[in-house]
Parts: sequence; structure tokens; C-alpha cells
Amino acid sequence: MKKELSLYVHIPYCNSKCEYCNFVSTVSTDSEKLKYVELLKREIVLRANEYNKLYTISTIYIGGGTPSCLPLGSIKDIFQTIYKYFTVKNSAEITMELNPNSVTEEKITEYINSGVNRFSIGLQCVDQHVLLSMGRTHTVDDFDNTISLIRSQGISNISADIMLGYPGQKLKAVQETIDHLVSLNIPHISSYMLSVESGTPLQLMVDKGVKYLPKENDTIKMYQTVLKTLTNAGYNRYEISNFAKPGFICKHNKVYWNRSDYLGLGVAAHSYVAGVRFANTEDIKAYFDCIIGKNKVPVAEANKISKEEMKEEFVMLSLRTADGLDTTAYQKEFGESFLAKNKDKLANFIKGGFLVIDSQGRVKATDSGFLVLNKLILELCS
Ligand SMILES: C[S@@+](CC[C@H](N)C(=O)[O-])C[C@H]1O[C@@H](n2cnc3c(N)ncnc32)[C@H](O)[C@@H]1O
Ligand code: SF4
Repeated sequence: MKKELSLYVHIPYCNSKCEYCNFVSTVSTDSEKLKYVELLKREIVLRANEYNKLYTISTIYIGGGTPSCLPLGSIKDIFQTIYKYFTVKNSAEITMELNPNSVTEEKITEYINSGVNRFSIGLQCVDQHVLLSMGRTHTVDDFDNTISLIRSQGISNISADIMLGYPGQKLKAVQETIDHLVSLNIPHISSYMLSVESGTPLQLMVDKGVKYLPKENDTIKMYQTVLKTLTNAGYNRYEISNFAKPGFICKHNKVYWNRSDYLGLGVAAHSYVAGVRFANTEDIKAYFDCIIGKNKVPVAEANKISKEEMKEEFVMLSLRTADGLDTTAYQKEFGESFLAKNKDKLANFIKGGFLVIDSQGRVKATDSGFLVLNKLILELCS
């Protein structure tokens, strides 16, 4: 029987670049974008030759960048190629990322007709000053209109991204952002703590003292506000940054956290298949040259994961989820007891109220544990 595989497709273009963002994406012309789509289709064929015999596709995620900034027809083109060369399950979850001001009714129709059944939209914050300071070019109205467009075409599986801890962002703005999403009944919310990435305009401004990060305590309060409001509104925190109403957990996300197989297509896309992590080149020109010149997929690096690295990934990824770390699965995979190996550390964390072990032997972070999760993980991996 064929195994399951998830596909991630990277679209490295945006209409403008946000000040905090270091995802691989640039502002470009339609003709460049169309050239990229042609090469991406070639990569799909090359990869399918390798993987289609062994795998069926259970989830697809088109991310970026901003996939919705491709010209009309490109997404359809990409999906037709995927369906032609890969075997995609009828029940596959197919997600596409959108920016609130890069869609039209026609585009949404194209995406849905191409099989997209879940949309993820970046709102970030409802405070227009914060949006401007982030370098975002949309308004809250644009977001609301996008939601209406999607819903009017029958899709309810929608996610919104928000960010916490941006310079100038107040707790009130976070509360209003969450209230807005709850009032719109958006069933899935990803809430990311700002990470100041090196080389971004934001980092430069923070370093120069032009922009100030909120105090750590204020950012924690923002996270607690998100957690409390969403829990009261019937959402479950199924991972530290992800909240869903019942029935709306993202299947593709779970593939990453469960360390299941996924294949990344396109420039800068990462893959994890059969214990090997590999990544395509981040350089669009190198991507073009390699596929056109050599008819080869431009892999920049490939690493067989060592047993020790696998253990660390297991701990790191599972403790971020509400399901926690399955000690039976750990024992089965690594032939050793997680509980015995970390007896003293676990006893301390449990005593401190940061971790619990449930009746099925799962180690789970508590509310206090989620606030210091990186420290707990670091300790348990050392
Ligand atoms: C790949 S982006 C794509 C979404 C889409 N292009 C947009 O911006 O609306 C996915 C999400 O990552 C989050 N993100 C990007 N850079 C971040 C950073 N430096 N720190 C925290 N979150 C970030 C944002 O919430 C963003 O919506
Ligand atoms: S956050 Fe989204 S829209 Fe902004 S630059 Fe990054 S990928 Fe593009």
C-alpha cells in the first residue's frame, strides 16, 4: 500500500515586503512570476517521477510569499500539474495562503475550482497604525471583504494569522484583533510572537532604537489574552501558536509536528522524507538555472537525521502540542524510556507546575509551561 505524503509549494513573490519578514519572497513582474510557474511545474514532474509510485498525497499547502499575487490562471496551472503527476486523495486538505488585498472574486473561484478547500489569511492586527508600521498594505476592511468572498463561495475552513509583540502594538489592539476574529467566527487562528529576524528592516530599526519592542511581560500578557479569549469562545489551543474550533485543526500542520513525510516544491522549500531533511536552494536564479540547464531539482542541502537529532525533534515538536509527548511512542521509536532518562528534570518541572503526565503517559505542558516552553525543551534536550 502507498504511504501518505504532504506537499508544500512555495511561491516566492509578494506585492510588497513587510518590515519584519524574512521569508524567501520578492516583489516581481508578472512575466518573472509566469516563468517561475513554468519551472515549478517542471519540478513537480521531476519529483512525481521519484515519489508517485510510493506515495499518495494527503494534504497540500500553497504558501509563500503570497500565492494569491500570482497572475490569474497560475494556481490552476500548478494544480493541474500536481493532479496529473501525483495521486491526490479525494479527501485531501488543500490550503492556500492569501493576503487580504491580493484577491478578487475571480481568483477565489479559480482557487476553489482547483481544489482549494482551506484558506489562510494574514490579518496580523486590527490597529491600522500597527499595520502601517509593519509595512502591510491592506486594511481590516480588506480582510473582512476577503472573508465574505470566500464564504460566499461555500468555504468555511478559514484560518487567520495574527502577530503579538510588535513595536507600538498595545494589549488593547490584541484584544480587539481577537474579538474581531471571534465575532467573524473564524474557526482557526494562528497567533505568532514576533521574532526579530536578522537582515530585516525591523531589526535595523530596533537596533538603532527607532522602534522599541514591548517588554517581555507585556508580550506574555498579550498571549494570555489570546488564550483566555479564544478558550472562552470555544477554541482549543492544539499547539502553542494554533487555536481551532472543533473540527478545524489543520491536518497539514500536524504533519510537521508528528514528523510525518512532506515534500517541498519550489525555491527555498524544505522537505522531510523517510528520515532525511532536504531543502531546495533559496536563490531564485540558481533555481531557474538548475531546472532549465540541468533538468534537475536544485537541492541545496540534504541531511540524514541522526538518532540524537530525531530524539530532540520528537521532544521539541511534541511538547509544543496540546497532545504532548507520547512516552510509549518514544520508547517504541528509540528503544529507551523518556521518563527514566529525564526522571529528575521531569520531577522538578512537574513540581514547579510546568508539566504534567496524564493517565496515558503523555507529558504535557501546563499553561505556565507553555510560557517558558523553550527553556523546558532546552533542558530536556541537554
Ligand atoms: C509566510 S507568511 C504568509 C502569509 C501572507 N503572505 C501574509 O503575510 O498575509 C505566514 C505568517 O507568518 C507570520 N510571520 C511572518 N514573519 C514573522 C516574524 N518575523 N515573526 C512572527 N511571525 C511572522 C505572519 O503572521 C504571517 O502571516
Ligand atoms: S509577511 Fe507575508 S506579505 Fe509580508 S513579506 Fe512576508 S510573506 Fe510577504
